[in-house]
Amino acid sequence: MQFNPGSDEKFQIVLNTYRVFGFWETLKEVILYVLSRKPADDFDRKYGVVTSGEAESSEAGITDETARSLAVAYVPSREIVIRHILHNTTKGLDLKEYSFIDLGCGKGRALIVAAQLPFKEVIGVELSPLHSEVATANIERYLSNPNCAAACRNVRVNCANALDFEFPVNDLLIYMYRPFIGPVFRGVADNLRRFQETTGRRVLIAYSCPVEELMLGQYSGFVKRTEYQVISMDYSWSLWECRREEEPALSLSRAN
Ligand SMILES: C[S@@+](CC[C@H](N)C(=O)[O-])C[C@H]1O[C@@H](n2cnc3c(N)ncnc32)[C@H](O)[C@@H]1O
Repeated sequence: MQFNPGSDEKFQIVLNTYRVFGFWETLKEVILYVLSRKPADDFDRKYGVVTSGEAESSEAGITDETARSLAVAYVPSREIVIRHILHNTTKGLDLKEYSFIDLGCGKGRALIVAAQLPFKEVIGVELSPLHSEVATANIERYLSNPNCAAACRNVRVNCANALDFEFPVNDLLIYMYRPFIGPVFRGVADNLRRFQETTGRRVLIAYSCPVEELMLGQYSGFVKRTEYQVISMDYSWSLWECRREEEPALSLSRAN
């Protein structure tokens, strides 16, 4: 992924943005990019939850100083981006075999979108006790809404450091929206590789705003399956698969 794309790549990036967002949203993205603004969204009103706003890690009640210093501030994903990722990563998968896990789930936005697909379970892992409490309340509110269209009701939030989280022995679709950096990211990658080696389960990693993806590229056990760079780096994402060298790649169609 190009963090400072040259003019040659810019056209492709705008085209990608068009493919993810459609014409009007792309136009809006270009204007917002020029004005350096974030788009407004109606997620909270639509689902009757509280996920909007940003919060620095220093204001999130995190007591572990090391983890806090490597944590990225809370910013919710955009629904349109989560949907694009899910659409392009779940094709052909038997979702009832998969746990969807958002490492650094914040206030639970991605969990609410993922629960609309028939995953075996949907799990959020969040370091901040304040955010995980809000995420738990959001999930309860979402699932108890009579109009709720959840296809998976087995949704839970763990207040924990992702580094200490024990993965359930299922196939995994890991979602990360740039939650942490440095040694925490490396440690989580190590854990995932060990998990895959010992269990033989599929491990897919959808990494949104993949600021640490070079680290994954350095591991022999991680293979990049696709990437999608759009105008704002915040909404670019890449898909990685963690697998033994001799294993065949999972058949996934290219993102569109
Ligand atoms: C950019 S926000 C993403 C929120 C959510 N995934 C979404 O897409 O809406 C990153 C979140 O990761 C959390 N986080 C940071 N370090 C973590 C760690 N070591 N373990 C678990 N969560 C962590 C932060 O507290 C923050 O809520």
